[in-house]
Amino acid sequence: MKKNLFVFIFLIAPFLLIAQQKSNETPTYKNKKASIQDRIDDLIKRMTIEEKAGQLNQLNGGTFTGPAANDTGQKAKMQMVRDGKVGSFLNVIGATETRAVQKIAIQESRLGIPILFAFDIIHGYKTIFPIPLAEACSWDIPQIEKNSSVAAKEAAAAGLHWTFAPMCDISNDPRWGRVMEGAGEDPFYGSVVAAARVKGLQGNLNDDAHILSTVKHYAAYGAVEAGREYNEVDISRVALWNKYLPPYKAAVDAGAATVMNSFNVFEGVPASGNKYLVTDVLLNKWKFKGFVVSDWSSFSEMINHGYAANGKDAAYKAISAGSMMDMESKVVIENLPQLVKEGKINVQQVDDAVKRILFYKFKLGLFDEPYKFSDEKREAATELSKENKAEARKAAAGSIVLLKNDNQVLPINSSAKKIALIGHYAKSKEDMFDFWIGYWTGKPAVDDAVTIYDGLKNKYGNAVEYSEGYNADATTSDALINTAVQSASTADVVLVNIGISGKMAGEDRALAYPEIPEAQIQLLKALQKTGKPIVALVSSGRPLVLTKIQPLVSSIVQCWILGTETGNAVADVLSGDYNPSAKTVMSFPYAIGQIPVYYNHFNTSRPLPTDKDGNWFSRYRDIPNAPLYPFGFGLSYTTYSYSNMQISNPIMERTDKLTVTVTVTNTGKIDGEEIAQLYIRDITASIIRPVKELKGFRKIKLKAGESKEISFVLSGKDLSFYDGTGQMHLEPGAFKVFVGGDSEHVLGKDFVVQ
Ligand code: GLC
Repeated sequence: MKKNLFVFIFLIAPFLLIAQQKSNETPTYKNKKASIQDRIDDLIKRMTIEEKAGQLNQLNGGTFTGPAANDTGQKAKMQMVRDGKVGSFLNVIGATETRAVQKIAIQESRLGIPILFAFDIIHGYKTIFPIPLAEACSWDIPQIEKNSSVAAKEAAAAGLHWTFAPMCDISNDPRWGRVMEGAGEDPFYGSVVAAARVKGLQGNLNDDAHILSTVKHYAAYGAVEAGREYNEVDISRVALWNKYLPPYKAAVDAGAATVMNSFNVFEGVPASGNKYLVTDVLLNKWKFKGFVVSDWSSFSEMINHGYAANGKDAAYKAISAGSMMDMESKVVIENLPQLVKEGKINVQQVDDAVKRILFYKFKLGLFDEPYKFSDEKREAATELSKENKAEARKAAAGSIVLLKNDNQVLPINSSAKKIALIGHYAKSKEDMFDFWIGYWTGKPAVDDAVTIYDGLKNKYGNAVEYSEGYNADATTSDALINTAVQSASTADVVLVNIGISGKMAGEDRALAYPEIPEAQIQLLKALQKTGKPIVALVSSGRPLVLTKIQPLVSSIVQCWILGTETGNAVADVLSGDYNPSAKTVMSFPYAIGQIPVYYNHFNTSRPLPTDKDGNWFSRYRDIPNAPLYPFGFGLSYTTYSYSNMQISNPIMERTDKLTVTVTVTNTGKIDGEEIAQLYIRDITASIIRPVKELKGFRKIKLKAGESKEISFVLSGKDLSFYDGTGQMHLEPGAFKVFVGGDSEHVLGKDFVVQ
């Protein structure tokens, strides 16, 4: 007996005490003082394979409070949260909704792992900014970063932790509805913009005003054949590395937290299951430390592609390729535990993916303050603030591209007594926006829009006389045309808002005819007969073919889709309160048959000479090779000249740098901002190189009559290109360097790399 007592007191009791103490201790993963790594390592050990699969499972959310709480489907999703089978929701928005769901995750699941709430904040959350393509035309990188930081701040106050932006897809096909989401056709510029958008969205991820960004759609989704949505991509590795990958890489290098698989295939394998893209390039070559999320059901859509036999095969192929979180297809949550149990998927690979996701949940502070982003007061105070709308107005004015302005019809003369404003879209709030303002969540950003009509009334009051000119469906009638003509005939200025609805900009909005509708051309022809100079205000989320309207109007103002402050921004430009400075980052095709047309094309074996005619050249017989308006083009109310271009060393050693200087002069009477561009050409190389490649730009303020000497420095890296393995090469030989105000009107110098 005594012996047992002794054993108990001195051998067993201490262990029981320690065990008791330990069980009372906070587990490491909940210990705020422990390092993130220690907390992750502790947590992963505690998780079942089902809970690990849960972290790789993202579901579409919607609302869960109020009447929705009784919805069977929503109740089932909440049960999955309680079971630890959901790591993230998309489309759960607002402080109230996110807090309600987070509470269930924290208080009613076994480990209390917080949920990541994601939403498509493509160009603003409540304050809507210009579509990314328009914003990119500003070439104002600090403003572009600022726009994203405003969007992040509004979203972060509404319970959101993560957005699926920036879209980094290079595209030169305006048939594709999603060109509106990117930064145009150039990989160098697309890279600079992608990095700025990541920085704007994420900051240092150490406050409650920034959110996780997503590099999408990885990879080369902008190369969809014929511009058709969800179509396949068939490009070489040389094209992949030189034209499409640079912006994704720049965004990853800028610290993007996540990367999204694209819907398309590369080399016959869907991006979601493409080991070359995900593991070889993204994870191994680029050392990406964040996590990969699929596009909407792109894992299970590998079945449609004909690459996966069923859900289990799709889950196996996605995870094996290095992909991680499954958006909405559910194949991972349904099959991963079994795949691990069968030894088909190595649990280490699952743990690596789960740890990457947990890292960002710890980084955002969600384990310690799970509701810090779901703050109703901050939400109300932040959204649509005066400051945010002022930024949106500035960004929108800076995005407007002046394509034509014969006889300086613009800016509107201050003596104008009557301004005829014609066009259905000009008064249509919803046409100030595109698809990506979250209609599907009922987020009514539309009500806050300042239409073009509102903006002109704000600026010119009763001088503005409005007529519809054409219907919402872009049809017209004699009555509509006659009313418009009558209004125009007694006006000092005739503004006609034409184009296509903002609702035709975005996903699943491919157009075989990206051009001005026939009825609007009919309207313009009738207006032209009044003899009044006509100003066309073009609303579109893509470069439309403007060739037919070009001769009918004196001025063409590409207004894109500008968001909440559209009207005020358009009025600021038309009045001259803001001298337009934007330059297009996508070529405007001369004809649909010319698509894809882009500046950084190859020379071909028989380039069409500019100084002579003849036969057997690379050309069309019915239209010019050149686009109507080239990449980098945009007018101002003033004019600029480029002179005295110099290069530091016509012979450049491979390790040298080349300095290019040029004098830019504002030769007009109005102060303005000019976007000077620098291009190179590698004349002869082991693989053909484009006739021009953008490698630098400067946005400079110049007062009327002022000149400034600007300089660019080119390194060997700037002159290099990738081979199909992703290896960079700088090859000796002849180069040209160009500077100018767009990709066609340039000064040039030759130099040699040896
Ligand atoms: C869509 C888009 C993607 C978006 C995602 C979530 O299909 O392709 O860009 O982020 O689904 O809405």
